[in-house]
Parts: sequence; C-alpha cells; structure tokens
Amino acid sequence: MSAASIPVLTLARDKNSPLDPPPRYRELRHEAPISRVRLDDEAPPTWLVTRWEDARTVLGSTAASSDTTRPGYPSRTPLAMPRGFFNFHDDPVHAVFRGVLTREFMVKRIDALRAPTSKIFDQLMSGMIEQGPPVDFVGTIALPLPSLVICELLGVPYEDHSFFQEHSKVLIDTAVSGEAKTTAQVALADYLEGLVEQRRREPREDLISRLGAQVDAGTFSVRDAADAGAFLLFAGHETTANMIGLGVLALLDHPGQLPRLHAGGAELANAVEELLRYLTIAQSGLSRVATEDIAVGDVTVKAGEGVIIMLNSANRDEAVFSASDRLDLSRSNARQHLAFGYGIHQCLGQPLARMELQIVLPEIFRRLPDLRVDPDQEVTFKSTAAAYGPSFMPVLW
Ligand code: HEM
Repeated sequence: MSAASIPVLTLARDKNSPLDPPPRYRELRHEAPISRVRLDDEAPPTWLVTRWEDARTVLGSTAASSDTTRPGYPSRTPLAMPRGFFNFHDDPVHAVFRGVLTREFMVKRIDALRAPTSKIFDQLMSGMIEQGPPVDFVGTIALPLPSLVICELLGVPYEDHSFFQEHSKVLIDTAVSGEAKTTAQVALADYLEGLVEQRRREPREDLISRLGAQVDAGTFSVRDAADAGAFLLFAGHETTANMIGLGVLALLDHPGQLPRLHAGGAELANAVEELLRYLTIAQSGLSRVATEDIAVGDVTVKAGEGVIIMLNSANRDEAVFSASDRLDLSRSNARQHLAFGYGIHQCLGQPLARMELQIVLPEIFRRLPDLRVDPDQEVTFKSTAAAYGPSFMPVLW
C-alpha cells in the first residue's frame, strides 16, 4: 500500500446516532482488525487496533511505550510532556508518580468524598431548579460537579475553576495547535506551583498538601508536584463531565432501563459499567509506540512503529459483548470494558469517576422524572476532543 493510499483516520460519527462510534470501526473489526491509517495528510502511517483482544495485547505489552517524544509516537501535536503528566511517560518516571498517587484513590479516600459529592450535587440541582427550564445541563450540572469534586480532593479554591476549565479544554482538543497546548499546560502548572508552595508552608488535609510533603521528602521537585496536580485537575473533570452528559442522554433514549439504575447496589454499579462501555468517551483512542516488535493478531508491529488503540471500537467488539451496539444495563460482562484503558496506565481516577456516576445518574432521574431534551434546541457534541461528550445540552423538566 503506498503512503498516499493509506486512509486518514476520522472520528466523524453518523449524525443520526451520536452515541455510537464511527460505523467504519465495525467493518474494520471484521475485515481488517489491525490496519494502517494516518492522522492527517502529512503524518506517517500508524497502526489502528479495533478489536478488544488486540487492544489488551498492545496495552498489556511492556514494549508499548507512552513516551510522546519517541519517534513514531502517533500524535497530531507531538509534545514533550512534563514528568508530572505521568500518563505520557514510561516507567520508571511513571511509576514514581503512580506510586505516590495510588493511595489517593483508595476506597477509604473515595468514600470520604461521597458526602461532599452528594452535597455539591444537591446545591447544583437546587440552582438549576431555581433557574427554571430550559437550562444547559453541561454548564449547570455535568461540568461543575466533577470540577467541584476534584477541587475538593486537591484543595484548589473553586473560585479559580473557570481558569482551569478553560485551559484543560485546550489540552484535550485534538484540533488545537501544540503551541496553544503548551501555553495551557504551563499556565495550569504555574498556578498549581503557587498552591504547592503555599501548602508546604501551611499544610492542610488535601492532596496538594500531601504532594508538598513529597517535595519535602525529596521524592520530586515542586514543579513535578505542580505538574502532577495540574494533570489530575485536567484528567479528572472534563472526562467525568462527558460521561454524566452522555449518560443522561443514553438513559433518556432507554427509559425502560431506568429501574436498574434506581435499584442501587450491585445493579446500579453494573449499570454504570455498561454506560462506560457503551459510551466510551476516549474517542481518539490511546497512542503507543513499539520499543520492540509486538505480535498482535496476524500482524507484527515493528519496533519504532506507532499504534492507536481504539477503545470505543474494542468496547463494541461483538466477539466479547453480544449485541454490542445495544445498551443493556443488566449485561453480565459489562465490567470487561476497556473504557478506563488497560495495563499499567489504566485510569487511576476510576474509583472516583465510578463514585460520582453512581451518585449523580440515579439522583437526576429521581429528582426530575420528566427530564427531557428541549425539542426546540439542538444538542451539540465535542467532535474533535480526545474525550467525547456534549458541549451544549438544553433540557426541560
Ligand atoms: C469517566 C471518567 C473517566 C474516563 C472514561 C477515564 C479514562 C481514562 C483512560 C482511558 C486512561 C488511560 C490512558 C492511557 O492508557 O494512556 C486514563 C488514565 C488516567 N486517568 Fe482517567 N478517566 C476518567 C476519569 C478520571 C478521573 C476522575 C481522574 C482523577 C482525578 C482520572 C485520572 C487519570 C490518571 C491520573 C490517568 C493516568 C494513569 C497512568 O498513566 O498511570 N481519570 N483515564
């Protein structure tokens, strides 16, 4: 295949089914599960992995590097990421940050955030009801809720939320230039550096203070701590916000399944897993570059070649999930989804995201049983963002 005949990867969905991944992935899973694509006309070819089994093979391989600076790493905007953005580094750098932060997301810490999350949700709901319909659900509930929760966890004053929201939006937009991304990332980290310094002087019961303590213990520098904080801030709110917005839209399309959500306990937990599978917000996939040859299905990804692992395709793989395009909140193997990735970089914040979704989704429908999309306005979606979700979602009740 000549380079010019290799197709450019498109994230475009069928306009009539905005909650489904591009229909082309289904064909690829059957005809060419590992194929060659380019990110744009000028970009070198890279591999595209569309099946669940193959996605796990690559993500579980020690030869799959997340280092954005390695030649061959598939990216529209190749960036040298600071160490604190540890998702874009391999071990040992990745392991230092992951090791320190793992305890922040343990059950006890997340449980302690349940009551504050419910309280934040109550306040936001009261504000929305007071405002009266129609309201933009994204700006009123879906985005502020996880923002406020992550601010609570980190110890970031919420007055500053619009500042970091603006910058994190730039960081995950695949259509934005590398330069603009660097500016956003530096602005976030500068802000966090000020906070780390302040908490080193006056420690509190928050994550920034604990990162400050690691600086004092010599684990990493102030800048590393600030970057790690900025990365959590960025990773922790837009993602969950997208899942809340899309989750509500999916449930509005399937009202008959709402009782499973209201059942609570294991049924609610399973319902949230199925929504994560069905909606898989990481729409641009995960990027890796091979440091050694990796055998994937019938293909050998050679050392130096890039791979994009399309999670939203893997999660619709009919070889693993029967009637995979159907939302079925009682699906018995929903938990096998790869919405949080797989392997050493699997989402660190997943217990937090689950907790928020399990509180918010049933409560919204309990409080507003007549919730619906405003038929006179149009829901718009973030079509180029790495994390897919609604950008505007007008609702009535
Ligand atoms: C529904 C919401 C979320 C989804 C779908 C999601 C998805 C993902 C995915 C797919 C990865 C793997 C990236 C890779 O392998 O390169 C990841 C990594 C990560 N996520 Fe999430 N995420 C969500 C919420 C959160 C939250 C709330 C936080 C915490 C504040 C968070 C923090 C992280 C971190 C720190 C990593 C990097 C882990 C590492 O490299 O070791 N995420 N997430």
